[in-house]
Amino acid sequence: MNRTTLSLVLPVAAGLALGGLLLKPVTTAAQTASQQALAVPNSPIQPLAQETTLDREKVALGKKLFFDPRLSRDNTISCASCHDMAAGGADGVDLSVGIGGARTSVNSPTVLNSGLNFAQFWDGRAATLEEQIDGPVHHPGEMGSNWQEVLSKLRSVPEYVAAFNRIYPGGMQIQSVKDAIATYERSLVTPNARFDRFLKGDSAAINQEERAGYELFSALGCISCHQGRGVGGNMFQRFGVVGNYFKDRGNVTQADYGRYNVTGNDDDLHVFKVPSLRNVELTAPYLHDGSAETLEAVVRIMARYQIGQELQAQEVNQIVAFLKTLTGELEAQGNE
Ligand code: HEC
Ligand code: HEC
Repeated sequence: MNRTTLSLVLPVAAGLALGGLLLKPVTTAAQTASQQALAVPNSPIQPLAQETTLDREKVALGKKLFFDPRLSRDNTISCASCHDMAAGGADGVDLSVGIGGARTSVNSPTVLNSGLNFAQFWDGRAATLEEQIDGPVHHPGEMGSNWQEVLSKLRSVPEYVAAFNRIYPGGMQIQSVKDAIATYERSLVTPNARFDRFLKGDSAAINQEERAGYELFSALGCISCHQGRGVGGNMFQRFGVVGNYFKDRGNVTQADYGRYNVTGNDDDLHVFKVPSLRNVELTAPYLHDGSAETLEAVVRIMARYQIGQELQAQEVNQIVAFLKTLTGELEAQGNE
C-alpha cells in the first residue's frame, strides 16, 4: 500500500474495525457538528485547549516554589534547574545535574503538558503530579532533601506562610506545598500549536512538507503510540518492538529496564511511558538515555526499533517538519 496516502483513510479504518464492514462510526448530532470543523475528523491526535479552570493564586504560589532552591538540601537546585521554561521545560543536557554535581540516571522530560500524562516518570512509577514531587525532593542526586527540612526552610519566609494561610485552610503542609506545585504544573499547557490550528480546520496552518510528515507519521504507525491530546503520554510500550535497541547501544544500566523496575514483571523489561511529542523541537537531547541529539536521529531510531523500517532522508525530514508543528504557546497561559 502507498504509505503516503494511508493516513487520510485512518478515520474510515476506525469505522471498519467491526468485522471489516464499512460501518459508519456512531456519532451524535452534537459530535457531527463539532467534527465538521476539523480538517482531519477523528484524528487520533486532539488539539489542546487553553487551561482556564485552575485557581490563579495556587498557580502563582506553585510557580514561586518551582523556582525556589530551598527545596534542595544545599539551596542550590530548584525544580526549574532541570525544567527550564526557556528550554521547553527540560534542561538541554543528556543527564541532569543535581546537588553537588551529581548526574541523574535518565534524561529530564519536559514539565510542559505533564498534567496530561496518564502517569509520571519514564517508567510511570508515580501516578500523579503530586506523588511525583516526592521523587526529586528526596533523590540524593537531585535535591537530596526531605519534607521536614523543606517545610522548616519555607516556614522561615513570612510571604510563604501568609500565602499558604490565605489559600489553604490547613496552611503550609506537605500536601499544600505539593498541591501548589502540581497546580502550577497543570497550568503549563501549550495550546495553539500550528498542528492544532490545522486540526481545527485552518488548512493553511501547516505547509505541504509538514502535512506529508503527518501523513507518514500516521501511515507508519507512529500515531498508534504517540496520540491523544499529548501526542503521547497515555500508554506504556516496549522500546525495541523490532530489534534490540539496548544490545545495539551497549552498556545497559538499571534505568534501561524501564517499567520492570516498578513491577518486577518480565513482560515489562524495557517498557517505558510513550513520551508526549508536544514541543519536542525544544527538548533535545532525546530518549530516556538522552542519547539522540537531534530530531532526525531519534526519528530514525524510532522507525528502526519501533516499526522495523529504514527511512529515506526525505521521509525523515518530512516527519521532523511535522513534529515542529507541535510547538505550542506558553505565554497564552500567563506563564513564561
Ligand atoms: C536534578 C534535576 C531535576 C530536578 C531538580 C527536578 N527534576 Fe523533575 N525530572 C528530572 C528527571 C531526570 C526526570 C525523569 C526521572 C525518571 O523518569 O526516572 C524528571 C521527571 C519529572 C516529571 C515527570 C515528567 C514525565 O513526563 O514523566 C515531572 C512532572 C517533574 N520531573 C517535575 C519536577 C518538580 C516539580 C521538581 C521540583 C520539586 C523537579 N522535577 C525537580 C530531573 C529533575
Ligand atoms: C510501539 C510504540 C511506538 C511507536 C510505534 C513509535 N514510538 Fe516513538 N517512542 C515510544 C517510546 C516508548 C519512546 C520512549 C523511548 C525511551 O527513550 O525509552 C518513544 C520516544 C520517541 C521520541 C523521543 C521523545 C523524547 O522526548 O525523548 C520521539 C521524537 C518519537 N518517539 C517519535 C516517533 C516517531 C516519529 C515514530 C514513527 C517513526 C515513533 N516515535 C514510533 C514508542 C513508540
